[in-house]
Amino acid sequence: MFSWTRPTRRRLRTLSVTGVATAVAALTLSLLPSFAQAAETTLGAAAAQSGRYFGAAVAGQKLGDSAYTTILNREFNSVTPENEMKIDATEPQQNNFTFGSADRIVNHALSRGWQVRGHTLAWHSQQPPWMQSMSGSALRQAMLNHVTRVAAYYRGKVVAWDVVNEAFADGPSGARRDSNLQRTGNDWIEAAFRAADAADPGAKLCYNDYNTDDWTHAKTQAVYNMVRDFKQRGVPIDCVGFQSHFNANSPYPSNYRTTLSSFAALGVDVQITELDIEGSGSTQANTYRNVINDCLAVARCNGVTTWGVRDCDSWRSGGTPLLFECNGNKKPAYTATLEALNSATPTPTP
Ligand code: XIL
Repeated sequence: MFSWTRPTRRRLRTLSVTGVATAVAALTLSLLPSFAQAAETTLGAAAAQSGRYFGAAVAGQKLGDSAYTTILNREFNSVTPENEMKIDATEPQQNNFTFGSADRIVNHALSRGWQVRGHTLAWHSQQPPWMQSMSGSALRQAMLNHVTRVAAYYRGKVVAWDVVNEAFADGPSGARRDSNLQRTGNDWIEAAFRAADAADPGAKLCYNDYNTDDWTHAKTQAVYNMVRDFKQRGVPIDCVGFQSHFNANSPYPSNYRTTLSSFAALGVDVQITELDIEGSGSTQANTYRNVINDCLAVARCNGVTTWGVRDCDSWRSGGTPLLFECNGNKKPAYTATLEALNSATPTPTP
């Protein structure tokens, strides 16, 4: 007769005026759990209702700031080290690996039962000086060694790795980005994925990039074609990360949901990995709401990470792009995000 999975206040009022006592009693019993489930008060718990995570990029040195960790510990259930797992941080001298700064973040997360996204194993940027000056087969071998050693060290601890970051050029070319890694040969990306798969077969292996949000853009199509090719040829790729740094130069596109669902249809998970939206007030809040609703509409969009916690933690702090003010207050964008997450169709408990 009635479907009670998404009850509305309007339907409740309609029913109560019918005065059917048995129906009211049945309602009370069947609806209360649904209402309780649909009113989570933190981002992580709200996302978990539909089986998703809600994460933040974490800067290790801020874990000593109690105002910061109070928000982090209350609201989030996934972390991405903002810089501590990058190549310059984990292999500052060739074959000399340092994991202390990353471990601090990983331990903070795992001791609380959260997920960790690893970021990132192979990238043209934030390379240590020794790698920047390398080329050819020596660089290829050094890159594969780095991927292998870091992924093996974090085996079983990192749920998903950004194996390769930002390998495509901006603009209309649809070409690969020129870099020392690209110049080792076009197959460097799949070689990195195969090395990561061998080192940690249980981790989800992602390709991650920015300016890949608009379905009509050449860069988006180029990444899509690469992922389709990888899936066809059996290159081990499980997920695609959309950084989603939105601002006036790189606005939220109305076809974002099409982008997410099109990639998901290739048989990969999609994740929003570095979300920040410059702006303020209700305009910013509405864009956050749209982004979250787009993710919720795609079954394989299984999580969202904001690139920082408070506005003043952001790499683009001048754009006030995050969900919390510097004083810790929740912004309208926070409320919009929480409401959107709470509106998701709950995942049935098995
Ligand atoms: C940024 C960090 O937030 C900064 O602290 C650092 O100085 C530079 O890198 N795309 C990425 C992230 O994949 O690693 C970048 O993080 C932001 C853009």
